[in-house]
Amino acid sequence: MLVTEGTLPDEVTDLASGYRRVPAGKIVNAVTWMEARAPVPGLARPLAMTRITKPDTASYRATFLEIGAPWLWDRAAEMSDAEIATHFSDPRQHIYYAHDESSAHVGMVELRVAENSEIEITYFGLLPSLTGRGLGKRLMAGALGQAWSLGPSRIWLHTSSIDHHSVIGFYRACGFEPYAAGFEITDDPRIKGTLPRDCAPQIPLIETEWMPGVR
Ligand SMILES: CC(C)(COP(=O)(O)OP(=O)(O)OC[C@H]1O[C@@H](n2cnc3c(N)ncnc32)[C@H](O)[C@@H]1OP(=O)(O)O)[C@@H](O)C(=O)NCCC(=O)NCCS
Repeated sequence: MLVTEGTLPDEVTDLASGYRRVPAGKIVNAVTWMEARAPVPGLARPLAMTRITKPDTASYRATFLEIGAPWLWDRAAEMSDAEIATHFSDPRQHIYYAHDESSAHVGMVELRVAENSEIEITYFGLLPSLTGRGLGKRLMAGALGQAWSLGPSRIWLHTSSIDHHSVIGFYRACGFEPYAAGFEITDDPRIKGTLPRDCAPQIPLIETEWMPGVR
């Protein structure tokens, strides 16, 4: 049955109050853009960062998904080995693996260095077993050290409401300030099939159009 706004109750279509339902199978992100315009002195002791120019595609995909699947990041699952290789052969795309003092791999950062001398932090994260211990700031100190050394006019990133609720506070603590807000509507990767259905149980999986009185 075709669902139109006229057939739905106000609770999900009350545009005057700003509510707008999206079709089942979509996820909605409130997006916050944040920027840093100067280094923060003494942020944290940076983790060692190794730039990888030709990542092994299988280990890159495994790392990306270990960090990101709990937050529904699926880009590496969507890309073939050839696409990953092509992506990182572009000199504007930088990937760094982070290591602690015992040389253990602890996280990953991806940057995009634009022609206008701005740098975007496109992906940033610790392995899930290592979060919440202060390593995040050390990862950011390492990432920013690499990024500022390239002489950008600013460094920016965006974060979404699907990421951990503390992330905006974390980025603020690392010297980023919000400058824009918006939203993003995407296909749910658990329905699209790029991530397992049991990923990110904290984010509701809605795959059937809701109609009043129909279950
Ligand atoms: C985001 C991430 C790197 C943060 O690293 P972390 O080590 O877990 O962060 P922590 O919880 O230890 O917090 C690091 C610092 O930020 C501060 N912080 C965290 N949440 C905060 C909040 N809501 N408000 C203010 N400060 C906050 C902490 O107080 C801490 O500062 P301190 O060392 O001075 O005490 C990590 O959780 C991660 O990799 N998550 C998965 C991937 C991800 O979400 N990436 C970002 C996507 S946009």
